[in-house]
Amino acid sequence: MSPQKTVLRALAGETLPTPPIWMMRQAGRYLPEYRATRAQAGDFLKLCYNPELAAEVTLQPIRRYGFDAAILFADILLVPQALGADLWFATGEGPRLSTITTQAELDKLIPADAIHDHLNPIYETVKLLSAELPAETTLIGFAGAPWTVATYMIAGQGTPDQGPAHKLKTENRAVFDALMDRITEATIHYLSKQIEAGAEVVKLFDSWAGSLQGDDFMDYSIKPMARITAALKDKHPTTPIIAFPRGAGERYKGAHAAIGADCVAVDDGVTAEWAAANVQTGGCVQGNLKSTHMVTGGDALVSETRRIVDAFSNGPHIFNLGHGITPDADPENVQLMIDTVRNG
Ligand code: CP3
Repeated sequence: MSPQKTVLRALAGETLPTPPIWMMRQAGRYLPEYRATRAQAGDFLKLCYNPELAAEVTLQPIRRYGFDAAILFADILLVPQALGADLWFATGEGPRLSTITTQAELDKLIPADAIHDHLNPIYETVKLLSAELPAETTLIGFAGAPWTVATYMIAGQGTPDQGPAHKLKTENRAVFDALMDRITEATIHYLSKQIEAGAEVVKLFDSWAGSLQGDDFMDYSIKPMARITAALKDKHPTTPIIAFPRGAGERYKGAHAAIGADCVAVDDGVTAEWAAANVQTGGCVQGNLKSTHMVTGGDALVSETRRIVDAFSNGPHIFNLGHGITPDADPENVQLMIDTVRNG
């Protein structure tokens, strides 16, 4: 048996002398080899649905940097597409979807357990990766959390304040709740299949959790993630789950227990010192270097990386950014971050 992987050890609650490291959006446009494979695929969605090429771009940052985890190359918006929404990426403008704001539109979606024909190529990518990854590298599967996915399905695109989703929640709670329910069920099916195909960990991205105010944060970010977590733990009790309620601020406190997650990913809206005192007490944390350091580099990158490693050094920690790396990042700054984490 290979020695147990460092990411899995941290997720099991172990404090390691050096935290394992991976990076959100580690396969992406800042890498020339990614841009080349994407051009070969034709466009982003074709890349997502081509198992060989999706596995190739997943492996690129592992080969270049030796990250401790690989994250499946796909997108959170493949689930709405599998449910029957139209999805396309307008060049330079981000995702576009057909919108769901009425009962009639909701009725046209397909059942939550009928998504697999559409998503089969993704499970194929997972299978390829579990065969090809180095023995020490952990394979992470993922999905969007229901609130974040709903914000795109309701607005038909990314929105700065998630206004259309908040509006539907207020004006037509029945349709909003039914949509959240459909996404939640589909996500359970999707992540179960990823685990069966070889994902060793799964992560839920609630990128827009921060815009939920008052009870809505509990009702629409935490509770749906808790429902998915409970269902997955029931079927796959040994698979660790990472939850990322981005922008939760002080509400990160207690998130492990409220969600039932093995790890909570924190963004850079809280300091590592605060998160160590208030979040890491509940279990493993992942985070939380500002992604802008991957653009600017230098002494500030080194000192902030050291500060985060140090702040989290008394408990289980997986080093990561606070959000995804951006296309304007310098690949050399990524290497500098990794060297700083591993060599001090
Ligand atoms: O992290 C990884 O490397 C794994 C792959 C991954 C992608 N998207 C690839 C991608 C993951 C985990 C995601 C998650 C995702 N997708 C989220 C949640 C995390 C977050 O960033 O908040 C969201 C909100 C999306 C939806 C999405 N996909 C948007 C808004 C965009 C356009 C913005 C952009 O960066 O261009 C995408 C496209 C996308 N997803 C790209 C990649 C590598 C860029 C596509 C390209 O190559 O042009």
